[in-house]
Amino acid sequence: MKKIGILFGMENTFPNAFIERVNSKNSGFIAEAVSIDKVVQADPTEYAVIIDRISQDVPFYRAFLKNAALSGTAVINNPFWWSADEKFFNNALAEKIGVPVPKTVLLPSKVRPENTSETSFRNLAFPMAWEEIFQYIGFPAYMKPHDGGGWKSVYKVVNPHDMWHKHEETGQLVMMLQEEIEFTDYFRCYCTGQKEVLIMPYEPRNPHHLRYAAEMKATGEAGEKLLETIKDYTLRLNIALGYDFNTVEFAVRDGIPIAIDFCNPAPDADIYSVGRDNFEWVVEAAANMAIERAQRAIPGQTNLTWGTFVKDALGIPAATNAAITSSAAIETPAVFEPIVAPAAAKEVKVKTVTPKKTSKLVEDKGAEPVPSEPEPKIPTKKAAATKFPAANSKLKKP
Ligand SMILES: Nc1ncnc2c1ncn2[C@@H]1O[C@H](COP(=O)(O)OP(=O)(O)O)[C@@H](O)[C@H]1O
Ligand SMILES: [Mg+2]
Repeated sequence: MKKIGILFGMENTFPNAFIERVNSKNSGFIAEAVSIDKVVQADPTEYAVIIDRISQDVPFYRAFLKNAALSGTAVINNPFWWSADEKFFNNALAEKIGVPVPKTVLLPSKVRPENTSETSFRNLAFPMAWEEIFQYIGFPAYMKPHDGGGWKSVYKVVNPHDMWHKHEETGQLVMMLQEEIEFTDYFRCYCTGQKEVLIMPYEPRNPHHLRYAAEMKATGEAGEKLLETIKDYTLRLNIALGYDFNTVEFAVRDGIPIAIDFCNPAPDADIYSVGRDNFEWVVEAAANMAIERAQRAIPGQTNLTWGTFVKDALGIPAATNAAITSSAAIETPAVFEPIVAPAAAKEVKVKTVTPKKTSKLVEDKGAEPVPSEPEPKIPTKKAAATKFPAANSKLKKP
């Protein structure tokens, strides 16, 4: 297996640059676009490593990648974990590992999922504890899919009526309602191999092509400290989640970076959106990571990485952060080399360029304040309503 493959879709700039960069390094591994002409169960591929940029949109590819991983291909990012992961869980996990996140609650979908009936929802209280929810989150707030990406179905909502009105549009999507973070600085950070970090000032209120044309506002010692904290949080999140190629977004409020979006396992890496310098960084970092992983892959074993969340659940020591393989790895974790050494992580690079003028935030249509009880989100019969939050709930009034 002397090949490194990349699987991609509509992208035009990153895949070829990645292939050329790997091949320019004469590592003994040849990079190429993955070519699939048949997928047979348990058949190995010819790739030591595959960088996956598209399986979130193509279920056939996700299944191909799981099959490939079974026979030793190091798939980046781990297709099993990616299938299991979602944003709301990410937020909950962030809290547990000490990374600040906005207050967030999960909302049942507006429309019932296919093949369900009212009786499928007998465990859902109606009405839900809306007053407590609104009090906890506050307004304005953000409402977005619990498992989304690409700014799809992200709404800014200004009051309960506005929220219910916009919720109408979301169909079967499970949404979450999130505290708005009013930020002074905003950053997007690449993280590769759970060790390399590039912090990019980002202005989400700019038009798409100018979002990376931003500069950090915090200066001096406070700025230094902020960058250190962002790097620490970025590594913590990716080590816990087990992603080798991801971006993390932070909104900074009162000097504290608050993680907004950190499940981007096929992060935008287009030269025309991230800009030439960031592109150069990510091409180089991804090429080095892929070669390193190809060199470390152990033939005949699975060579995926798993985050500490999964490893802790399996009782694998935290220091062991390399590929884990079936039961053998669980019994003898010491044979695996750690690939993560946050303390030894390289210098954080921060890009600063001249800021450009800002534009409007995401969907921000106002609505008249009519905070009355809506129709049930899911048309259940009135169930035994849990009007009061559980004793240990954050919704509990003081
Ligand atoms: N809680 C929040 N506070 C402030 N701005 C937010 C918040 N949530 C989302 N946004 C804004 O909306 C944008 C898209 O939301 P995000 O969670 O990144 O969704 P996606 O995964 O679709 O990119 C963010 O880049 C940010 O500008
Ligand atoms: Mg985002």
